Amino acid sequence: MRILLIGDIVGKGGRNAVNLLVPRLMRDYDCQFCVANGENMAGGNGFTRQCLLELSNSKVDVFTSGDHVWDQKEFEKEILAFSNVLRPANLPDCQPGRGYGFFEAEDGATVAVVSLLGRTFMHTAANCPFETIERLLPELRKQTAIIVVDFHAEATSEKIAMGRFLEGKVSIVVGTHTHVATADQQIFSGGTAYQTDLGMVGSRDSILGRDIASVVGRFRTGMPARFAVNDKNIRLCGCAVTVNDEGRATSIERIAMDMY
Ligand SMILES: [Fe+2]
Ligand SMILES: [Fe+2]
Repeated sequence: MRILLIGDIVGKGGRNAVNLLVPRLMRDYDCQFCVANGENMAGGNGFTRQCLLELSNSKVDVFTSGDHVWDQKEFEKEILAFSNVLRPANLPDCQPGRGYGFFEAEDGATVAVVSLLGRTFMHTAANCPFETIERLLPELRKQTAIIVVDFHAEATSEKIAMGRFLEGKVSIVVGTHTHVATADQQIFSGGTAYQTDLGMVGSRDSILGRDIASVVGRFRTGMPARFAVNDKNIRLCGCAVTVNDEGRATSIERIAMDMY
């Protein structure tokens, strides 16, 4: 089977691009399952029920998240109604929602998806992501050989370390959060597809999806500023991974598609 993975969806422009392009990509790349990071879908910050409903026909099967998962206060309650949204599995157990799940792909295969949050250069209350996934693996494997991990983290080194930690143990480890796609996609030994960061679904004319002038201004002055989302000239970034019945990845191809 083939799995489509998409980076952080930023704002309305990102949502529109996902609605338009994901069904096309699923067809063109012959994918039967899609995972996308959704943590910036609501105006750049978190999730809302309305935004998720807007994406209900987009063909995205699972939305992973990260440090912005609770940016919208209402979502603490709303997440319970969305079985296709994952909060990071290594956040404290008392937080609402769940960090992993089992989902059925279009071809009938069961896919386990895990959302994990990094800790290096990040202000989070997250527990150790390595310990968390190590604890989860036996349970995941009992259900399926096809396991996808989205490691939402800032540091390239922490992400590669997670990829290597899970080498030969899961089907796919992809990174999100930096909004900049990396060109290091490869298949690790034992059949684990890896890419440090998938990039984003956001404006090409922006800084990480945000208005250029306000971000540059913040760096120059050090003064607090609001960063408006730029919803124009959207590029969708991600990758398509082929996984065999034993859960081993056999190919990974990077995807970047502009919306005109
Ligand atoms: Fe993000
Ligand atoms: Fe993030």
